[in-house]
Amino acid sequence: MNILGLNSVFHESAAAIVVDGRVVAACEEERFSRIKHAKEARVDNPHELPEQAMRFCLDYAGLLPDDIDIVAYSFEPRLRRLKFRPEWWPDSSLESVFLHSLDEVDGAVARMMGRRVGRALKFVPHHLAHAASAYYPSGFDKAAILVIDGIGEADCTMLARGEGNHIGVLASLSYPHSLGFVWEQASVYLGFSAYDAAKVMGLAAYGDPGVFRRAFASIIQEGEQGYAVDAETIGFKSLEPHRLVALFGPRRPPDGEFLRHHMNVAAALQEATDRAALSLLRRLEREAGGGALCLAGGVALNCVTNDRIARAGAFSDVFIPSAPHDAGTAIGAALVAHCAKRGAKRPTGGATPYLGPEYDERETLAAVRAAGLKPRKCRDAPREAAEMIADGNIVGWFQGRMEFGPRALGNRSLLADPRRPDTRAILNQRVKHREEFRPFAPSVLAEHAEEWFDLGSSSRSHEFMLFACPTRPGRAARIPAVIHEDGTARVQIVRRAANPRYHALISRFFERTGVPLVLNTSFNDNEPIVCTPADAIATFRGAGLDALFLGDICVTRDG
Ligand SMILES: [Fe+2]
Repeated sequence: MNILGLNSVFHESAAAIVVDGRVVAACEEERFSRIKHAKEARVDNPHELPEQAMRFCLDYAGLLPDDIDIVAYSFEPRLRRLKFRPEWWPDSSLESVFLHSLDEVDGAVARMMGRRVGRALKFVPHHLAHAASAYYPSGFDKAAILVIDGIGEADCTMLARGEGNHIGVLASLSYPHSLGFVWEQASVYLGFSAYDAAKVMGLAAYGDPGVFRRAFASIIQEGEQGYAVDAETIGFKSLEPHRLVALFGPRRPPDGEFLRHHMNVAAALQEATDRAALSLLRRLEREAGGGALCLAGGVALNCVTNDRIARAGAFSDVFIPSAPHDAGTAIGAALVAHCAKRGAKRPTGGATPYLGPEYDERETLAAVRAAGLKPRKCRDAPREAAEMIADGNIVGWFQGRMEFGPRALGNRSLLADPRRPDTRAILNQRVKHREEFRPFAPSVLAEHAEEWFDLGSSSRSHEFMLFACPTRPGRAARIPAVIHEDGTARVQIVRRAANPRYHALISRFFERTGVPLVLNTSFNDNEPIVCTPADAIATFRGAGLDALFLGDICVTRDG
């Protein structure tokens, strides 16, 4: 049974392929199209499908369109018609445009596949797809599941329980109770784009949440159902933050200074989000019982909230997939379709982030030569890269299958020395051209992680850089480039079995320096993370990196 999963209803378009219950490949369209988030979330484009990601998935699995038994799309138009109220829109006619575009999905899939699809096309409820993307790969036999995002068909948050191959919905919170929308509004208010929740999260560490605590309590209120969001504040899909301006003063212009005031708004938002999530968690514990917890939805990219949840003690183990945001619903939808078959075996393979394309040495050498660069074959690339990093160089590290999800986890990464106080400024200003306040993350050897960071729990998802963990006393001063303003670090644990070459690189760095971690940031300069060797070479040149390792092939700035 071959199932193609697709997400394209809003943004983060992606495709995935599941063969007999095994997740074989998954990729976001932005990596091929080089357009961030693949497309804007517009009412008239849910049928713009991730064609290049689909083609990659089929090629990787060695399948033709005719071999696909089911196409699973992570949004259910019938549920939308049932639960969504057109008057939520500022102009209710927008809903007909949206529904019309959803009606086009069928034809668009047929065109993309070059064949009739008919009943092989299955529409999967959006939050069920999110839930499945976390629960099935988690390996838990049963678990409570929490999905928090902007909006699905009409729901913004879902509480569910998984047992065996079945996911049962316990409760959901519909619009306006969208934490995702509050973050979009706040991002715009603070001078960023609606996609820049990560920047707001970074800024929050500098602020005092107490200053605007009361004001935020009127926007996100805790309550019996978990939390409630003030409809007037968010306005459906409105990115005019009128109420935030009324409460907190003028919005920050995109090129404006970062004032204490902005940091305090971000800090209060982070605190209100944490409280809402913990309140939901208490409800979930009451309704689903304790044990294991799976988290998904865009809000599950908030590593501060994730850490609060993991430490709250209500659940013994927490799993969050590497792509908890909308891209992950491509995998989730396919897994829902698989598990709907009678007697389906438990899915496998979705817990690794390394599900994207890879390139062999012949392809790599061709790209290097086409760029007019001189390739050099390394005898021991991890050791050479580690030596260069310890000598203060910024190194592009490209190897193996590309990560699925927004974090670079050692296969499409830029690496630097965490010990040098100036590394952060050099990376932010010279290489990545981004705001100075934004933190960088450490990749640490699993064997030494607890000596340096208070991980708080033994979640497998520590391998996906999804928790902000406090640093152990006395350690922060040795690794200033990866410690955020509040003393935490967004740790990625690296196990030898999961990524042997990356583990070897950090081990060599440890042997040389006594520090078992390197700074890891995504291999890009504002564009989507690099996918091909040619993308990596372009960023290597454009961003002024010192060296680039493409598997065992090395090129240097002066070579
Ligand atoms: Fe979503």
